[in-house]
Amino acid sequence: MDFNELVRRRYSCRAYKPDTVEDDMVRSILEAGRLAPTDRNDQPVRVIAVRSKEGLAKLEEAGHIYDAPLAFIVCSDRSKAWTRSYDGMKTTDIDASIVTTQMMYEATDMGLGTLWVCMFKPDVIRRNFGLDDDMIPVNILAVGYRDDQTSKNHGVRIPMDDFVRYT
Ligand SMILES: Cc1cc2nc3c(=O)[nH]c(=O)nc-3n(C[C@H](O)[C@H](O)[C@H](O)COP(=O)(O)O)c2cc1C
Repeated sequence: MDFNELVRRRYSCRAYKPDTVEDDMVRSILEAGRLAPTDRNDQPVRVIAVRSKEGLAKLEEAGHIYDAPLAFIVCSDRSKAWTRSYDGMKTTDIDASIVTTQMMYEATDMGLGTLWVCMFKPDVIRRNFGLDDDMIPVNILAVGYRDDQTSKNHGVRIPMDDFVRYT
C-alpha cells in the first residue's frame, strides 16, 4: 500500500473480533519492529508478544486493550539506550516508539486494526511479565481484526499552519 494511504487508513481501533492473528502476520509485525532504527544502533528494545489467554488476562490487569486477541509490550532497556551528554536525555522511549510505529504500520498494511496504549500500570506489567529493573515497558500495541469502522479522533488534526513553522 502507498505510504500516504497507509497513514490515512490507520486509526485507533477499540473493538476487535476474537479471531486469532495468524503466526505469519505476527512474525511480519515483529520483523518490522526488529528492523527499526535505534540511536547508535544500540538496539535496546525488546518485545513481549502476548496472545495466550493467560497472558492477555495478565495484561488486562495493567491496562485496557479492548479485548484485542494480540498485544505487544514494547520495552526498552535503559542501561543499553544511548544518553545525550549535553542534558542526560536517554533515547529509551524514542527507540521503543519507533519500533512500535513500524509494527503498527505493518499491521495496518496487512488489514489489521491497532491501538497504541500508554495508559497502563508499569508496575503490574513489570510484576506480571517478570521484567528486570532496567527494562522499561514503554508502549503496548494492541492488534487484531477490526470490529469497528473508525475512531472519533480519526482525521481530527490541527491545521498545517499550526503544525509547521517555516523560517
Ligand atoms: C503515545 C500514545 C499513547 C496512547 N495511549 C492510548 C491509551 O492508553 N488508550 C487509548 O485508548 N488510546 C491511546 N492512544 C490513542 C490516541 O488516543 C489516538 O491515537 C488519538 O486520539 C488519535 O486518534 P486516531 O489514532 O484514531 O487517529 C495513544 C496514542 C499514542 C500515540
